[in-house]
Amino acid sequence: MTQVDVLLGLQWGDEGKGKIVDVLSPQYDLIARFQGGPNAGHTLEFDGKKFVLNTIPSGIFNEKTMNLIGNGVVIDPIILKRELDNLKAAGHDPVAKNKLVIARKAHLILPTHQLLDAANEQRMGKDKIGSTLKGIGPTYMDKTGRNGLRIGDTTLPDFKERYNKLVEKHKEILSHYEFEFDLTEKEAAFFEAIEFIKSIPHVDSEHYVNGYLKEGKKVLAEGAQGTLLDIDFGSYPFVTSSNTTTAGACTGLGIAPNKIGHVYGIFKAYCTRVGGGPFPTELDNEVGENLRQVGHEFGATTGRARRCGWIDLPALKYAIMLNGVTELIMMKADVLDGFDTIYACTHYEHNGETIDYMPYDIISVKPTPVLKEIAGWKTDVTKISKVEEIPANLADYIAFLEKELEVPVKYLSVGPDRTQTLVLD
Ligand code: GDP
Ligand code: IMO
Ligand code: MG
Repeated sequence: MTQVDVLLGLQWGDEGKGKIVDVLSPQYDLIARFQGGPNAGHTLEFDGKKFVLNTIPSGIFNEKTMNLIGNGVVIDPIILKRELDNLKAAGHDPVAKNKLVIARKAHLILPTHQLLDAANEQRMGKDKIGSTLKGIGPTYMDKTGRNGLRIGDTTLPDFKERYNKLVEKHKEILSHYEFEFDLTEKEAAFFEAIEFIKSIPHVDSEHYVNGYLKEGKKVLAEGAQGTLLDIDFGSYPFVTSSNTTTAGACTGLGIAPNKIGHVYGIFKAYCTRVGGGPFPTELDNEVGENLRQVGHEFGATTGRARRCGWIDLPALKYAIMLNGVTELIMMKADVLDGFDTIYACTHYEHNGETIDYMPYDIISVKPTPVLKEIAGWKTDVTKISKVEEIPANLADYIAFLEKELEVPVKYLSVGPDRTQTLVLD
C-alpha cells in the first residue's frame, strides 16, 4: 500500500505549484487536485511553450500520468471546457488520450454563482476581498448550505429542474443588490459545456484514489491557492473558501489522514499576495515594484498586479506546522539575482511585543516585521544545473532558511522552465 504525497503552497498562492507538479509528475501515476477551482492559475513552461491551467491537474502533459479533479474542487464547466479545447488545439488532448477523470461529488459553479460573487464584491466596495470573481465563495456556500449541484447530478433526468430551482434562489438574492445582469449567453454556454463534460469519465474519487494506493501506485495531491488563504487558518476574511492545507487533501479526495506521505511545501524566495488583506512584509515601494517587474508578478488568472514583499518566516513556520511539511521547495531564487541585499522577516513587533508566530489579529494591528539582512549573490542563476554551481550566498540563504524552518529544502527553482529545477542533497 502506498501513500498520497501532497504538494501545496505555503504563502498566499502563486508559489509555482504548477511548474513543480509538472516536474514531479513522471514520478507519479496519478495527480489529483483536491480543492479550489478556476480561481487557481497554474503555469507550466517547457519546450518554449507556456500553459496556464485553472481546473486541470498539472500532470496532464506527462504521457503516463492520470489526472483527477477531486470531490473537493468546484468546477466551472465553461472554463473546464475552454481549458480542454485549448489543450486540444495545442496537440495535447486529455479527453482523447483518456488522461482525465472527474469526481462525481465535485460541485458545479453556476453562472449565477459568479454573479453573486461580483454583486457581493461590488457591495463591499473598498473592503472587498479582491476575489477572482470566479464564483468560488458562493459555490462553497451552496455546498455547505446543502443546496449545491454536483457533477454527478448532470446525468440525472431532472438536472435542468434542479438547476432552475437553484438559479431561482440566486435570482431572489440578486434582487436585493443593485446589480444588472443578463444570463442568456452564459446559460447557453453552461449547458453546452455540461454536455461536453459528460463525455469525461466520472468517478468516485474516494474509491478511485484508494484503489491506486491499494495497487501500490503513486499519487500526488496538487494544492491550489496557499496556506495563508485557507478558510480556517488564513488571514480571514481575506481568504478563499476551501481548506488549502494538507487536511483538505483528505476531505477533497476521500483519503484517511494516515494515508498522507510526503508533504512538499512550496514557497517563493520572497513573498507575494494578490487581492486584499494583510501582508506584514509587503514592500509598497520601489523595491516591491522591482520584485514585481523582475518576477513578472502579475496574476496568471486575472492579470492583476501581485503585491510583493520579503520572505516571512513566522508565516512560513505557521504554514509548515499546519501542513506537516516534510520537504521544502524554494522557487524564483533567480528573481533576487540582482539584489545587493535581501531581507528575511524573522519576527514581528506586535502590540509592544516581539513574537515569532502569526497573531490572531493582523488586520487592525498590523505587525511590524523584524528584518534580517542577507547578502545577495549578484549572479545569474537561471542557467545553473548543478548543485555545485549554486553561488555561496544563495547556498547560505538556503541553509539559513533550513535552520530557521527546521525542514530541508529539496528542490530549488531558478527559472520558469521545467528544466530550471535543481534537486538539492
Ligand atoms: P501557481 O499558482 O503556484 O502554480 O503559480 P503561478 O503559475 O500562478 O505563478 C508562478 C509564476 O512564476 C509563473 O509565471 C511561473 O511561470 C513562474 N515561475 C515558476 N518558477 C519560477 C522560477 O523559479 N523563476 C521564475 N523567474 N519564474 C518562475
Ligand atoms: P493559485 O492556485 C493567488 C485569492 C484572491 C483573493 C482571495 C479570494 O494560482 O495559487 P476567491 O476567488 O478564491 O474567492 O478569492 O484569494 N486567490 C488567489 N491568490 N493564487 C491563487 O491560486 C488564488 N486563488 C484565490 O486573489 O484575494
Ligand atoms: Mg497561480
